Amino acid sequence: MSKRVIDFEKLEELLKQHDGQMLVFEHGEPRLVILDPKRYPNLFLDKEVNPSGLEEKVRGAKILVTGGAGYIGSVAVENLLASGYDVVVLDNLSSGKASNVSCPLIVGDIGDPKTLDKLFSEHQIDAVMHFAAFVKVEESVKFPEKYFQNNVVNSLALLNSMLKHGVKKLIFSSSAAVYGQPSSIPITEKHPCFPTNPYGESKLMFEKIIQWYSKVHGISAVILRYFNAAGASISGNLGEIREDVTHLIPKVLQVAAQQEEELRIFGQDYPTFDGTAVRDYVHVDDLALAHILALDKLTKDQGVFTYNIGTGTGYSVNQVVDCIMEQTGKMIMTEHAPRREGDPASLVADASLAFSELGFAAQYSDLPTIVDTAWSWHKKRFRL
Ligand code: UFG
Repeated sequence: MSKRVIDFEKLEELLKQHDGQMLVFEHGEPRLVILDPKRYPNLFLDKEVNPSGLEEKVRGAKILVTGGAGYIGSVAVENLLASGYDVVVLDNLSSGKASNVSCPLIVGDIGDPKTLDKLFSEHQIDAVMHFAAFVKVEESVKFPEKYFQNNVVNSLALLNSMLKHGVKKLIFSSSAAVYGQPSSIPITEKHPCFPTNPYGESKLMFEKIIQWYSKVHGISAVILRYFNAAGASISGNLGEIREDVTHLIPKVLQVAAQQEEELRIFGQDYPTFDGTAVRDYVHVDDLALAHILALDKLTKDQGVFTYNIGTGTGYSVNQVVDCIMEQTGKMIMTEHAPRREGDPASLVADASLAFSELGFAAQYSDLPTIVDTAWSWHKKRFRL
């Protein structure tokens, strides 16, 4: 096993850059933790609070959040509002819920130039966070046209409208799906991108469009490649709502809640330590934090910056099931099923670039916290 060399000077430098950060060691590994003063008020009593090292000029900036009524977007909005940003949400409510949004909500499509013209004329937008997209891998294989239309063509209409109205900062929700079957783990941002489904391809296509628009039109962007988004908001107000649940953690929770009889484990013959597939689960509040740090980055630097947003730690399907049994105290019946087509054995991020350039370190992405928040949300939602 190779020995990791810890660059203490770099860590110290990072600590100086952002107020409210703390260095902790977990299993001998250093991690920077960014403390939220709302959650740890006692630690900040006599200090002027500046939670994520945001520059004062950023406060009060107006952010357009597309897809802000959806699972990840709504948690980002909650965090933006708490950090002092002004927020407007554009969402067509195809999967999001208006009740998730506690700021001005414009119900409309990202691909509708009239809606966009009106929005950008009425609101002085400083930056756009673009979450709105179709996200189901299996569906994308059946209906690629739907994915290219919404995730590429409609996103392009948004980008063109931004340009027309002089808005040049974008944070784009991309995905680890752009890498396809990884040839090495952990996956760095330099890993070749060969998506294995139209969903991943649509995200990669838009990443490329952003690169060209930066070169030609001077757009600046942070592209965040999410690994497996999971958990419910720490506030307890927001969580994952989907009509047809396919993601592992909500699926297992349905079994725990006796809404499903058993969990089908897709593949037990993967070349992983226990034969089941390994994923890097990131808590949704950590994803939101990455967006706020990305905004901060765009106030200082111009260009396009691409980061993996993960933890660097992978958990197998069996580990997730065991953790859920432990946290909920419920028995989970499982059944062996064949591998799901296109599923890689292991997807784990090398998250060091986001750590060194954005100061991003996950705070809530340990499996028990993810499961605990998701289970509380599930119980609240289904009145269990
Ligand atoms: N799984 C099961 N049984 C289930 C559901 C899932 O065994 O009922 C397994 C899957 O086969 C996979 C793992 O659990 O091995 C995780 O599956 P998810 O469906 O929760 O997530 P994916 O890794 O397939 O995909 C997610 C997002 C994609 C994104 C990808 C990036 O849905 O959009 O993470 O890491 F691209």
